[in-house]
Amino acid sequence: MSETFDVVIIGAGPGGYNCAIRCGQLGLKTAIIEKRATLGGTCLNVGCIPSKALLHASELFESSIKDFEALGIETGGVKLNLPQMLKQKDDAVKGLTEGVAYLMKKNKVTVFSGTGRIAGAGKVVVEGDDAVELSAKNIVIATGSEPTSLPGIEIDEERIVSSTGALKLQGVPKKMIVIGAGVIGLELGSVWKRLGAEVAVVEYLPRILPGADGEVAKQAQAIFKKQGMDFHLGMKVTSVETLKTKLKLTMEPAAGGEAQILDADVVLVAIGRRPYTEGLGLETVGIETDKRGFVPNDHFKTSANGVWVIGDTTYGPMLAHKAEDDGAACAELIAGKPGHVDYNLVPGVVYTSPEIAWVGKTEETLKEEGRKYKVGKFPFMANSRARTNHTTDGFVKILADAQTDEVLGAHMIGVGVGEMIGEVCVAMEFKAASEDIARTCHAHPTQSEAIRQAAMGVEGWTMQM
Ligand code: FAD
Ligand code: NAI
Repeated sequence: MSETFDVVIIGAGPGGYNCAIRCGQLGLKTAIIEKRATLGGTCLNVGCIPSKALLHASELFESSIKDFEALGIETGGVKLNLPQMLKQKDDAVKGLTEGVAYLMKKNKVTVFSGTGRIAGAGKVVVEGDDAVELSAKNIVIATGSEPTSLPGIEIDEERIVSSTGALKLQGVPKKMIVIGAGVIGLELGSVWKRLGAEVAVVEYLPRILPGADGEVAKQAQAIFKKQGMDFHLGMKVTSVETLKTKLKLTMEPAAGGEAQILDADVVLVAIGRRPYTEGLGLETVGIETDKRGFVPNDHFKTSANGVWVIGDTTYGPMLAHKAEDDGAACAELIAGKPGHVDYNLVPGVVYTSPEIAWVGKTEETLKEEGRKYKVGKFPFMANSRARTNHTTDGFVKILADAQTDEVLGAHMIGVGVGEMIGEVCVAMEFKAASEDIARTCHAHPTQSEAIRQAAMGVEGWTMQM
């Protein structure tokens, strides 16, 4: 007879493993199934964690060459040891994935290694190392997403790579072309540019970072261009030809026009990710995906009784912290408690140098919605901590409702803004007015003073400019 669980979760990424931990804490008998050799999903294995390890190391490498001397630090010749840089990335991944395995044990979650498939109401089959059939009062789909590819361009993960291949290149390419000026393209493009590659970015739209505030994206592009990234915006890639010694990329203006050719050693395809539900047996419980492959949900409930969905496989931003919050809220709903995630308050951070961070609505969205809003802005050039650190690029922008003064959004570009955005998330969660932030004492000299000064700017009383 198959073992019965209160909850069987398929996929052990940030959505799945956080859901499992919360289920365990709530006293539900829980199992999680993962087909990858290690737990942690895309984020820990081939996403957030390895990319941040490389971003950090490559930033220090570049700084040691470009910035240290002006600070009075003489290092002598700086040399890249790429195998060691890749190893410290792998060490970070190993430590964290092992940490998830420990958390499963600690919360009494049974881990099955193999591929999970729904085999009808309340039934999940595991194929692989732990082949078994499980009975489940609740099934949670947490199978995540996979990179989207371009028709006719075959990813071999060596010369034509997705983010997964770009995290383990064995040498620094002389020329790299990134297709897609989104988050992955800019982060991983930055890594290899800092390590010595010439990087060109080809983007279909006329701007970079769609979804980010337009003014921030414009400044980001100018800064990245100054750093040496080459942008080809409004261009459609039509083919990538694999020649013996190089790759030949052909592109043409999205609006129509003459084709252009670029050469490269490595092409990174970073044009978005799509939900992954291959072979999951959705049809056995009558679940249909939408046109883009997402599993529709109402408060994480799918159309099938007792089947739930969280994370990248369903709607909302495709981010690890959103998947985590989905997981915890879904567990609480399964346990009969209230559970909710406000996707408007999920922050976005791009870990380039400088970083880009935002939460809430952009000016573009507020305009589209016909909302009346006020703007407060403060440049890091006028922030004393940024001046002491010689990191004065960027600004903070706060958007507030014209009548009520409620903060509707915050958009930042600057060193360390990925850490600073949390303050505005808390303020918005508590429905703060911009005046609440403006009247909150911030330590001096800190970069977070720029947030306070921008909030003061909403009512026109910025004091340090
Ligand atoms: P996943 O993490 O994709 O996990 C799903 C898991 O399910 C996988 O391990 C998969 O093997 C498993 N699985 C699938 N089908 C089955 C099956 N049938 N049986 C068993 N197991 C199955 N987000 C951020 O917030 N911050 C970042 O800095 C960031 N950086 C990123 C960098 C890169 C290069 C990439 C690619 C993504 C990045 N992301 C980042 C996005 C983040 O990784 C995802 O949003 C997040 O991992 C989604 O979590 P999830 O649990 O929904 O799915
Ligand atoms: P993305 O959606 O951020 O960017 C894709 C870019 O490719 C867009 O600018 C889009 O206009 C462009 N594009 C689409 N089709 C194209 C084509 N045919 N030719 C040229 N350009 C094209 O997707 P990305 O960067 O692949 O990242 C996938 C997901 O991973 C995102 O949802 C992101 O949130 C997540 N992620 C998050 C990170 C973070 O939080 N720091 C880091 C990396 C990834």
